[in-house]
Order: sequence, then C-alpha cells, then structure tokens
Amino acid sequence: MKPSRRDVLRNSLSLVAAATAPEIIIAQPVAGHSRAEIDERLKSGKGLEGLTKADLVTPVLILDLDLLEANIKGMAAHIKSSKIDLRPHGKTHKCVEIAQRQIKAGAIGLCVATIREAEAMSAAGVKGLLITSELVGKPKIERLIKLVRRAPETMAVVDNADHAKQLSDAATAAKLNLNVLIDVDPGGRRTGVPPGDQAIALAEKVASLPNLKLRGIHGYSGASAHVNTFDARRSHSVEKMTPVLETFANLKKRGLPVEIMSGGSTGTYNIDADLEGMTELQCGSYVFMDVEYRACGGKSGAVYEDFAPSLTVMATVISKTYSDRATTDAGIKAFATDRAKHVPEIKGATGVTMGYGGDEHGVLTFNNPSREFKIGDRIEFIIPHCDPNVNLFDRIYCVRGENVVDVWHTVGRYGG
Ligand SMILES: Cc1ncc(COP(=O)(O)O)c(C=O)c1O
Repeated sequence: MKPSRRDVLRNSLSLVAAATAPEIIIAQPVAGHSRAEIDERLKSGKGLEGLTKADLVTPVLILDLDLLEANIKGMAAHIKSSKIDLRPHGKTHKCVEIAQRQIKAGAIGLCVATIREAEAMSAAGVKGLLITSELVGKPKIERLIKLVRRAPETMAVVDNADHAKQLSDAATAAKLNLNVLIDVDPGGRRTGVPPGDQAIALAEKVASLPNLKLRGIHGYSGASAHVNTFDARRSHSVEKMTPVLETFANLKKRGLPVEIMSGGSTGTYNIDADLEGMTELQCGSYVFMDVEYRACGGKSGAVYEDFAPSLTVMATVISKTYSDRATTDAGIKAFATDRAKHVPEIKGATGVTMGYGGDEHGVLTFNNPSREFKIGDRIEFIIPHCDPNVNLFDRIYCVRGENVVDVWHTVGRYGG
C-alpha cells in the first residue's frame, strides 16, 4: 500500500529527530515541564519517571543526590572515628529532607539560625535543635517559648545578662525550662561574650536565673572557616578556640552544669574535632560545598575536595551573538553575589568564565573553551557561597545523573 502523505511526513520528521537526537536531548528541553505540572505529577502519585534536567525551566537549583549522600556519609564516618557529636547547621540547606538524612546518618540534632528555621524543622519532626543566633525581642522570644513547649530539648544562645533575664522571665511565665548555651566569641566580634571572666560571669548569672537551664558554650569561629591552606586554617582555629575551650574547662571546674561545647565549620571539621574539650561540631556547607570552600585548600591539596559540590544552579544559554561570549538566563538573582572574589564555576568545562550581566543575565566569556556553547544549551554552575544561594530559591530539584527524581522545598526563607 502506498504510504499516505501524513505517514511520509511523520517518517521524515522522525528521521530528522533521530539524526539530531543527541543534540536535542543534551541541548534542548524534550518536553518542558512547568512547576505546576511537576507538582501535579508528584501529588497524584505518578512520580517523575522520564523527567530529565533538560525538561526543567531554568534557572533552577539542582541537587545531585549521589554526591549529597556521599558528603553526608563522609562526615558521618569522620564524626564516628573522631568520637565527637555532629549537630550540623541547617542554615545551609533549609531543607527537611536533608536534615532527616543527616540525623539518620548519626547527627544528634540540627543547628538553625532563625526562629523560622527552628519552627519549620520542628514542625517536620526534627529534634535536638540549637538556635545559634540570639533571639532578641518579644516576638521572637514568644515564638521560642511556643516552640520549647512542643520541643523542650531545644536550645537557645545568649551573650547578654539583660537578654538572659528576658528569657528567664518568659520561661518562668510559661512555666517551662529553657536550655541555654553561653555564646562565647572566639574573636570574630560578631556575637558572643569574650572568653574568660566575662563569659564566666554571664554563665554564673544564667545558672542563677529561674527557669533557665545552663547547658554549655556555643563558640563558633567563623573567621577560621575559610582561611587559605589547611595548615594556616588549623593554626587560626587553634588560636581562636583555645580561650573558648579554656573557659569551658573553667566553668566545669567551678561546678557549673556545662556539658556541651559546640562549634566548628566545614573548613575546620578535621581540626576542631581534635581540640580538647570540644563535644560537638556544627558543620553546614559540607552537604553542598561551594566555590569559596573549594578554593581554600584541603589537607592534601590546593583544592578542598573532602566533600563534593552537590548543588548547582542550572541555566540556559539564551543569546549568542558574538563569538567570544554567550549570555545565560542566570544572573544576580540566581546567585548569592556576596563573595566578590568568587564567581560561579562552570561544571564540566574549562576556558570559560562567568560574570554577572544584570539581574536576569549571566555572561560567559570564552578563552579557548573546552566545549561549544549553543543557544538553548544547559549549563550547571557550582555556586560561590551555598547558604545564601539556597535562600534565593523555594525548591531544589533532586537528580540522579540526568534524571529528576524528586523535588524538595526550602523552609524558613526570610520574611518574618
Ligand atoms: C553559627 C554557625 N555555626 C556553623 C556554621 C557552619 O559553617 P559552614 O557552613 O562553614 O560549615 C555557620 C555558618 O555560617 C554558623 O554561622
């Protein structure tokens, strides 16, 4: 039978599709899926089978689950062999599913930075919260008390006697006990009372106030986290943390009921774990990593590679008029731009650098690039600074290889 005009057309179209298939699959969205369609598939239980990264509308946050799991496993192994506890910082990911995986791997709880993060994590069943920023003012204290009613093990930090009195009054009025760590400043002059006499006086004050339960010290040396080269970082952290640890030992000697000495970062996880007196680490960025951390050098090399960059921003090339550059749809609004020295790094390509071309535009500049960049191409960027970058997005697309397998949400983003 003679094939119909329609059959001929269909066959020729599929021949064209076959000839160009590899390019189409790599470069262009196959089906294209809106957020609503993806949500509907998840809600109806259909799942995301067949959905690939190429189907997503950029810019989006992409999380490589294999790398995330390896990072969580690597930190858990370190914690186990170092005989120290891990209460990882949830400010990095703001994501319940990641917190749950960290706890499943052995973490004793979760640090959070804000009351909103605390509420969201607690509502999802995450226990053992330590809120590492001072919650000052009636609205925050009221919300803290409400949270402690539901999760009595929650801990707050304090670096000021007046604030301690306010917390004590609120806890007394609510007829509950509030767990408190003294926030001791290792020298960053951000928050915290200086180590030594002032910290001891505040600890004694807190111990004397009704309905406050002194548990220990919070001492986070943020200034040590990214010191370049491992040896310099170790010296920095040891120098800054020693007075804090001496204060902790002193409080113990005085018979104050302190049992928790909490601090440390991804940059110092294999330094602070060996410090005498440290009881738990608060590392956060190790789950995702970022350009800034990779640049500060690891124990065994110029690139810090103990943990893998699992989180990327995926963008699309939207303009390519000139031979030496291309423009993407991911600019200032898609990246945290606070680290002037570090720009997003293109995954899987060399000879190309990214610059910001405006709110919605990124500019790729070519200098003998290792691959071609065409209109519609998808590009993934390792992000300069993971924590604030996550706060820019309300969802994280989880992938295994090219396949999108889940969608997780960020919780407790800024806004009251
Ligand atoms: C109080 C506190 N603890 C822990 C961390 C985790 O540090 P990192 O993400 O570098 O591991 C941070 C990060 O800024 C922090 O502010």
